[in-house]
Amino acid sequence: MSNICSVEEFNSKIKRILVTEEEIKAAIAKAGKDISDSYDGRPILLVSILKGAFVFMSDLCRAITVPCEIGFMCAKSYYSGTVSTGAVKITMDLEQDISQYHVIIVEDIIDTGRTLKDIVALLSARNPLSLRVVTLLDKPSRRKVDFVADVSLFTIPDLFVIGYGLDCAELYRNLPYIAEYAEGGE
Ligand code: IMP
Ligand code: MG
Repeated sequence: MSNICSVEEFNSKIKRILVTEEEIKAAIAKAGKDISDSYDGRPILLVSILKGAFVFMSDLCRAITVPCEIGFMCAKSYYSGTVSTGAVKITMDLEQDISQYHVIIVEDIIDTGRTLKDIVALLSARNPLSLRVVTLLDKPSRRKVDFVADVSLFTIPDLFVIGYGLDCAELYRNLPYIAEYAEGGE
């Protein structure tokens, strides 16, 4: 089902900018340098969790200055409005044999922690050379299961956010910044 939404309605849900384009750019430049320094000489596979992490992945991989490969997995976390229902489904798996790689999972946001806990368990069972998690955003106050990322670029409060890959009902992924979504009126 497509979303028919006027520009006025679209803009009215962008409550305020939480993380600017400049802040995202600076944090990714640092994360890319740290990865380049610590993984140099090792086979790297960046694994992006679609759809939300596609923008972060495209910027992070270009901030890495050493050879690296990329792969994609698609995980769907089911939402009722802006509330997670807790169900996670892998709808597209990686094509690579990860036992040959140092794997870095590239995620957009950690909320309850369920998605990454499941994905880390799944990928660990495939014996990668190493496995780390880099997330753009973290909402630690929302955890339902224990999960700590190796690298988290921004810690944010318990708010539903949109932009830079993150959606609300499939819209807003194309905003270049992270914004708070204006709840209500749905
Ligand atoms: P978790 O399994 O609850 O940690 O949820 C992770 C997934 O839910 C993320 O990868 C996002 O796709 C989605 N998600 C969680 N919080 C938000 C949010 O504030 N805005 C948009 N998507 C979110
Ligand atoms: Mg996601």
